[in-house]
Amino acid sequence: MAMKNLFADRMKNIPRSFVREILKVTEDPEIISFAGGLPHPESFPVEEIEAATTKVLKEEGDKILQYSTTEGYRPLRDYIAKRYATNGLKVDSADVLITNGSQQCLDLVGKVFINKNDRIAVERPTYLAAIQAFSLYEPRFKSVPLNEEGVDPEVLDDLIRKFDVKFFYAITSFQNPTGITYSRKIRKEIADILRDSQIMFVEDNPYGEIRFMGENLPPVKSYLPESILFGSFSKIVSPGMRLGWIVAPPEVMDKLVIVKQASDLHSNYFTQRVVYQYFKDNNVDEHIEKIRKRYRRQRDLMVDCIEDYFPTDVEITRPEGGMFLWVTLPKNMSSLELFEHALKEKVAFVPGEAFYVDDPQKNTLRLNFSNSEEEKIKEGIKRLGKTIEKLITCD
Ligand SMILES: Cc1ncc(COP(=O)(O)O)c(C=O)c1O
Repeated sequence: MAMKNLFADRMKNIPRSFVREILKVTEDPEIISFAGGLPHPESFPVEEIEAATTKVLKEEGDKILQYSTTEGYRPLRDYIAKRYATNGLKVDSADVLITNGSQQCLDLVGKVFINKNDRIAVERPTYLAAIQAFSLYEPRFKSVPLNEEGVDPEVLDDLIRKFDVKFFYAITSFQNPTGITYSRKIRKEIADILRDSQIMFVEDNPYGEIRFMGENLPPVKSYLPESILFGSFSKIVSPGMRLGWIVAPPEVMDKLVIVKQASDLHSNYFTQRVVYQYFKDNNVDEHIEKIRKRYRRQRDLMVDCIEDYFPTDVEITRPEGGMFLWVTLPKNMSSLELFEHALKEKVAFVPGEAFYVDDPQKNTLRLNFSNSEEEKIKEGIKRLGKTIEKLITCD
């Protein structure tokens, strides 16, 4: 049967996830892959999760296998609100909605806010799967370039004066893909610009807890309470459990709960209970500290190896946390071309093109430093450096 004409219009321009296609290529165990966005397997508290699972099943098995509320398990929402409070952000737990990872937050926000052809603003470059999630609602994207300290508030201001933008989506700490973190000054200025506008600020912060150097910074939401903030347990406990959350003002929360209910009734109640039990019985800060130390080591090693093995006209970001760094090759180089050559040397990364909503900067690429063992980081960066050298001398 020819199915082409059966599909909804919104499916016409949705590319298959580029990263998924790339990850398929990199499944070969011989390839050293800096392409994925995976936490290190040793960052998973396996035994503690086993103990928490046994405990909740034994004590309340009849309850935790039941349906539950759309908003999520109340004590878990309270826990999230309390954790924000210790970091200086006042959040009412009624304003927290548990989701299937922060990925679902993107979809829910898209559904609640975007009409076809609405304009939305994103960073340049931005998180690939956010482009995909929002694209399903057929917006017109506007992009705001990222600099070392975040986006330039003047450029954002200009954009929102010129165009009727529904919301600005930004990943303010250890951004995916660049590793860039917004400075305190920029956070305040963005809040000042958006405070009296009709534009929603949507802040995605899945990496915020993985700061391994520098000063902790408050989310923009602490300067702009009416904004939306996403969070996730993926990088501090487990991505496979698929648990995240949205903090939103009551008016927005009403709508989010409706679309969440229509979508899946509620997030996995069993894993909510297990994660909550895990938090109750363990010191998660100690656990996070271990992750930070590991990622810092791996990040330092990757940066050192890049300094040793990459040509000097290659530029990189030096993230203070998170899982990625961003590479800018000499102007005329294409990271897609480099990708093909690198695969032959059995090393992989994500070419930067995938992260742009307009006019991609072709000489950029993303490297993940959280998932690889140290030996692999050394060897992979060495091979990549050689491949870059070769391509430069060929030109
Ligand atoms: C910026 C950003 N947002 C959202 C997500 C989705 O994460 P999760 O759904 O696992 O919370 C990711 C995952 O890599 C991400 O980098």
